[in-house]
Amino acid sequence: MATPRWYPDELAHAGDEHLDPGYVQGYDRKAGTDPTDEVALLRTLGLDETSTVVDLGAGTGAFALAVAPRCRRVIAVDVSAAMLALLQLQAGAQGLANIEWVQRGFLTYEHRGEPADFVYSRHALHHLPEFWKGIALGRIAAILKPGGVFRLLDLVYAFDPGEAGPIIESWLDGAAATPALGWTRPELETHLREEYSTFTWLLEPMLERAGLVIQDASRDPSGIYAAYTCVKTSSDLG
Ligand SMILES: C[S@@+](CC[C@H](N)C(=O)[O-])C[C@H]1O[C@@H](n2cnc3c(N)ncnc32)[C@H](O)[C@@H]1O
Repeated sequence: MATPRWYPDELAHAGDEHLDPGYVQGYDRKAGTDPTDEVALLRTLGLDETSTVVDLGAGTGAFALAVAPRCRRVIAVDVSAAMLALLQLQAGAQGLANIEWVQRGFLTYEHRGEPADFVYSRHALHHLPEFWKGIALGRIAAILKPGGVFRLLDLVYAFDPGEAGPIIESWLDGAAATPALGWTRPELETHLREEYSTFTWLLEPMLERAGLVIQDASRDPSGIYAAYTCVKTSSDLG
């Protein structure tokens, strides 16, 4: 189906750095992501060698590469050609033949084949403003089979607006000293100014409204990071 003209250009909201091959080259070191626990969690939720997994906003593929040996099919979706190129390179180097990559976004990915058993997304949904998050969550529900699992990790604010000042300042105080090893204060400030992290108490009803019933919600003590395990009910509203 053609994307309506009134849809946003997802590349324009993707964060310029994610499209820059130089930045992407250093991304894994900067992010330092270890997806071991996430793969283990999905296995406790039924992930096995028959499963189809869609990773939305997959980046360089830390999770996709780790989950591939444990399932049948992984589809890594990202708007960034540079991210997907590195993912492709790493999949080849590791001899992983069951990873597909699709240069699309939350709003444009068209799923083909059996409905997904799992949709995974880490630190990517915040690139969409509220209305479009709602549309994206409906599309995620539509990709999943009934009973399928949506695992979402993102920067989601677990506080009231009046508490924002001290909580945000405390987060910024813990920023990395250099961009090679993490996100620096100016980078985190850019996230706050230009991206669309939202409040837990806005996102959670949006998940439920999309037919993604929250089975588990965990919030980092900083108040900045949250993780959700959701199960698709038999009918979605997307
Ligand atoms: C901070 S990175 C996270 C990458 C990876 N999930 C991780 O945990 O390391 C955010 C990723 O989201 C991608 N992205 C941004 N907007 C997107 C969209 N609308 N649809 C899909 N991916 C998007 C970026 O290109 C980037 O690869």
